[in-house]
Amino acid sequence: MRGAKNALSAGFDGVEIHAANGYLLDQFINSSTNQRADRYGGAIENRARLLIEVVEAVSEVWDTDRVGVRLSPLGTFNDISDDDPETTFGYVAKKLSDYRLAYLHLVNPAVAAIEQGTEPDPRATRMLDLLREKYRGTLILAGGFDQDTAEAWLEQGRADLIAFGRKFIANPDLPERFRSRAPQC
Ligand SMILES: Cc1cc2nc3c(=O)[nH]c(=O)nc-3n(C[C@H](O)[C@H](O)[C@H](O)COP(=O)(O)O)c2cc1C
Repeated sequence: MRGAKNALSAGFDGVEIHAANGYLLDQFINSSTNQRADRYGGAIENRARLLIEVVEAVSEVWDTDRVGVRLSPLGTFNDISDDDPETTFGYVAKKLSDYRLAYLHLVNPAVAAIEQGTEPDPRATRMLDLLREKYRGTLILAGGFDQDTAEAWLEQGRADLIAFGRKFIANPDLPERFRSRAPQC
């Protein structure tokens, strides 16, 4: 809540709630790390509770169309895992749809295949299809994309937007390079 207020007073355009990559909210969501026996553990409705409470708290500071959420379905950072990831992340994606957020941002579970130019693991593809169906709003994917793979995935309707990390760090003028098909570092 304080971070959301600070971002607002600092003039940011919006905030992203980081519920991915093994950080605290992700540890609540995934069954391997959530060992709680209270109303924040056990059933997915409980494991998702803290994230939903954070979304609601941040939405008191920002209009929800200025709030995004980041998830990493099938993520394995720090050995995190879930017993039934399709049920878990399907529930979270559907629940988040109710809030009319700016977007849902997924760490691409098929990042290795994208980088290696191989066929994605069917589990990753199934998860992406499922979350696309469950989440009724703008979907962002990030992880391992270049211009060609990003355009191909957008054309296939797998996401509305693709985010870039390393390419943007190495090429601050990345959009212009994409536009003119210039080489990238
Ligand atoms: C050097 C490096 C450090 C990163 N550190 C974090 C991190 O601390 N937490 C996190 O959630 N993501 C982290 N990421 C992932 C990025 O947030 C982003 O998802 C990723 O860079 C997008 O994929 P791309 O670089 O292939 O475009 C990191 C990425 C890189 C390259």
